[in-house]
Amino acid sequence: MANDIERAPTEQEKRPATTPRPTSAAKFVEGRVVALKPWTERLYSIQVEAAVEPFRAGQFGRLALPGEAGEMIVRPYSFVNAPHERPHEFYFITLENGPLTQRLVRLHPGDPIWIAPRASGFMTLADIQDADFLWLLSTGTAVGPFLSICKTEEAWRRFKKVVLAHAVRYAEELTYQETVRVIAEQRGSQFVYVPFVTREDTNFALKARIPQAIQDGRLEARAGVPLAAEGSQVMICGNPDMVADTSAVLEARGFKKNRRKDPGQITVENYW
Ligand SMILES: Cc1cc2nc3c(=O)[nH]c(=O)nc-3n(C[C@H](O)[C@H](O)[C@H](O)COP(=O)(O)OP(=O)(O)OC[C@H]3O[C@@H](n4cnc5c(N)ncnc54)[C@H](O)[C@@H]3O)c2cc1C
Ligand SMILES: NC(=O)c1ccc[n+]([C@@H]2O[C@H](COP(=O)([O-])OP(=O)(O)OC[C@H]3O[C@@H](n4cnc5c(N)ncnc54)[C@H](OP(=O)(O)O)[C@@H]3O)[C@@H](O)[C@H]2O)c1
Repeated sequence: MANDIERAPTEQEKRPATTPRPTSAAKFVEGRVVALKPWTERLYSIQVEAAVEPFRAGQFGRLALPGEAGEMIVRPYSFVNAPHERPHEFYFITLENGPLTQRLVRLHPGDPIWIAPRASGFMTLADIQDADFLWLLSTGTAVGPFLSICKTEEAWRRFKKVVLAHAVRYAEELTYQETVRVIAEQRGSQFVYVPFVTREDTNFALKARIPQAIQDGRLEARAGVPLAAEGSQVMICGNPDMVADTSAVLEARGFKKNRRKDPGQITVENYW
């Protein structure tokens, strides 16, 4: 992947020699940056080689880099790669003054990066019941875990159709188009991709927020699939306001939250 960002000293290089090593081996494993790909001014994917334990599509890892005083700055990031793919890949947006994202974006191939050895999270197919249709509803960088899910065989074995909705502000933020193209090519009409662009006009994307498009029927019309509690499982990930608003719209239609001891149809993950 291309990396045209100006070389800055890594945090490890900047750390005084007297600073203790930032990690105890138990908490993190040391990996290497393979590549940092810029998609837009703010959106990046980072590829990492690291000996983490097997994970499930939809789970997240905890990436860490040392801060000024040698303390570890740790944040969760969803795996974009499928469990069988290497290197590991994470998709992130840089936040102004964001402690970790401002450091991630200065990394270069070969730099060290730390990651918790074990993945976490319950937004996986293992935790949802079978249904006809699987709806994957995302905003921004939260399309990542759903791409990982779409790259597994399980998704296609268990559901007649998988609908992937990705909502962004601007069209250039509809990243991973090549991945989407390959999934569409492999899965044919079993896969439906629905892009949403909310802050500019396009001739291909829905110009609406996801909950609004559910309420007014545009999402179902575009997907060609009924969105009813009977026959559907819905995973929602990203902006917590979108997660809350979408859950509310679905609950008004008779969907209920999915809990291990009380299975339902709505499984969510908030990114902040
Ligand atoms: C389970 C889980 C999985 C996550 N997976 C991803 C991922 O795959 N990709 C990713 O970019 N982020 C992801 N995040 C968010 C991520 O962990 C960091 O919070 C984020 O990258 C910002 O880190 P920071 O240290 O720069 O700033 P922080 O101090 O952590 O965040 C500053 C503020 O930025 C906002 N914010 C944080 N993350 C995002 C985001 N993704 N999009 C929009 N606004 C945000 C929030 O208001 C937050 O309070 C995930 C969070 C959780 C809880
Ligand atoms: N993307 C940018 O160009 C940009 C620029 C400056 C700062 N930022 C900051 O970067 C962070 C992430 O930005 P982002 O653009 O990736 O994520 P975002 O703000 O979550 O927007 C992504 C998509 O989610 C939609 N959305 C927001 N709230 C929603 C709700 N309650 N219900 C349904 N849909 C909702 C947005 O629609 P709407 O367009 O209708 O809100 C947009 O389509 C934010 O903290 C933002 O302040 C982003």
